Amino acid sequence: MRVRRILIEGCDSPVEVLSGETLLEALERCGFRMRRSCRNGVCEICEVSLLQGQLQQRYPRKQLSANGGVAPVALACTSELLTDIRVKIKGLKLPGEVSVKKLNSDIISVEVLTSDVYRVRLQLPATASQAVNYHAGQYLDIYLPDGRKASFSIASAPDQGRDLELHIRRIADSEMSCAVLDHLQNSSRVDVELPKGNCWLDAASIGPESRLVFAAASTGFSQIKSMVEHLLANQVMNHIRIYWGARDARDLYHLALPEQWAREHANVHFVPVVSEPELSPDWIGRTGVLPQAVLEDLDHFEDTQVYASGSPAMVYALLDACEAHGMKESQLHSDVFAYAPRPAKG
Ligand code: FES
Repeated sequence: MRVRRILIEGCDSPVEVLSGETLLEALERCGFRMRRSCRNGVCEICEVSLLQGQLQQRYPRKQLSANGGVAPVALACTSELLTDIRVKIKGLKLPGEVSVKKLNSDIISVEVLTSDVYRVRLQLPATASQAVNYHAGQYLDIYLPDGRKASFSIASAPDQGRDLELHIRRIADSEMSCAVLDHLQNSSRVDVELPKGNCWLDAASIGPESRLVFAAASTGFSQIKSMVEHLLANQVMNHIRIYWGARDARDLYHLALPEQWAREHANVHFVPVVSEPELSPDWIGRTGVLPQAVLEDLDHFEDTQVYASGSPAMVYALLDACEAHGMKESQLHSDVFAYAPRPAKG
């Protein structure tokens, strides 16, 4: 069988596709990275625009042909080539652009933000051979001396270079969270592996019309902080709405920061939400759960991308609530889809 090729807009070298490979499999085998989560045609996150050629999409089953008009959109994870093709892929990372590395980092500080949330500052090695790139919204793994590891969102933006920030909650009945914090508080260096995770954004690939909605629960704020700081560092002027929810107002451990973003940037709107106000008698802000708060404010999801960081229960509740108001699943981005996938819809 003749080898088929993928030509990618903005990339000089064609990608050869092996027999039986999907578009996504071929790209990943060759070191490209693109948004993907379920790998079975459900989340629709891996959309590509077909500029030339023909594709057979397995699920949802259909044949796509580029005919010079509006480029049909295919799902890379379930599409096989029927001819050579030319495609445009938003946010595609070229081979080697971001690679995962394990590094020994300096621990700069571990400070208390509230009674149980700590801000950890790390600094990656300066040597060029150890330089590491990451995207806003990705996470890293911290390794303990006994080889165990735990994952934490990177709260800093890639624009801050090799200085990393993490927000870590000490959970009394979580032996791992206590072990990680004890190690960080009593050591000068720590092994980290990064970058990890497929829920990230890149200021350069945000369309001018897109509205960006961020929904964070508790320390899920750290992932959102990275993305928002990256957008602000790159002077993105899109409309940005940030929702941060917690049971108790004291768990909104860094409230002054998003309040400052909203004060200093006319395109940023911030809504803190407390779900159990009886725990916070002095709270005078919004109450309720995050999905409810988001839907109270948004009556449509056209040109909207939602980034959610929190428990699977929160993320899926938000997804269901927003889908009931017209949002497509592909408009919501979260690491939850990778580590706690729901069964495919029947
Ligand atoms: S990764 Fe392709 S549809 Fe989910």
